[in-house]
Amino acid sequence: MAAPGRFITFEGGEGAGKTTQVKRLGERLRVLGHDVLETREPGGSPGAEAMRHLLLAGIAKPLGSDAEAMLFAAAREDHVTSVIRPALAGGAWVICDRFLDSTRVYQGVLGGVDERLVRALERVTVGTTVPDLTFVLDVPPEVGLARAGKRGQGTDRFESEDLAYHERLRQAFRHIAENEPNRCILIDGTINADVLAVRIWMAVADRLLRKRAPAAAAAPAAKPIAAPTPAPAPDPTGTVAG
Ligand SMILES: Nc1ncnc2c1ncn2[C@@H]1O[C@H](COP(=O)(O)OP(=O)(O)OP(=O)(O)O)[C@@H](O)[C@H]1O
Ligand SMILES: [Mg+2]
Repeated sequence: MAAPGRFITFEGGEGAGKTTQVKRLGERLRVLGHDVLETREPGGSPGAEAMRHLLLAGIAKPLGSDAEAMLFAAAREDHVTSVIRPALAGGAWVICDRFLDSTRVYQGVLGGVDERLVRALERVTVGTTVPDLTFVLDVPPEVGLARAGKRGQGTDRFESEDLAYHERLRQAFRHIAENEPNRCILIDGTINADVLAVRIWMAVADRLLRKRAPAAAAAPAAKPIAAPTPAPAPDPTGTVAG
């Protein structure tokens, strides 16, 4: 049976560069011969993609924030069950464009959904399928929105909120990253996309590839190591959010 895969998510506000970096990381892993699945939320499975349209067009908004959150959760349930878990079980690297932190921020912090409901839905839909590593791309809202606008697409349900909303969103993402350093890496998204891709790759190599070295960490050291070595990164798989 294949070794279980790795699960990486990208989070951040509009136009932070998430989709760009999902693709870059996917390319790099494929070049190295890894099996890679790039996916996104809301969506990522046929059922969830159908719901994505309702959610981003704002059709679910009049139902109220709790009902909207439950629709997001229904989409995630299908995506995790039918796409993410099977891919991970087959040994793939799964890279997801937005995941549980977007729910905590958009529906929870900004949408006013009670945190207990957000966490309860998270337990049901995500369960133990918590990302091994999450990159939180940080850009000032003006930069992100200008980038998002530049692509010439219509503004969606969330892009159309005002600047103050996007600043709160940014702070909420930063807060998560600061509170969960084992899982999250906050990264400056304003730098050049190529440089950013290298930084992201180095973090992935450090935190996830290094850990795949056969049982190195488990082998008892015969002698104390003479040269000082950097402290090992905390095990990202050991972090269960919420
Ligand atoms: N580091 C960067 N520097 C400058 N421009 C960038 C950078 N990364 C991405 N861009 C450009 O900014 C725009 C938004 O990037 P991208 O689609 O990757 O962001 P996103 O976070 O996925 O946005 P959204 O939340 O709207 O899906 C694109 O036109 C992209 O080419
Ligand atoms: Mg995107």
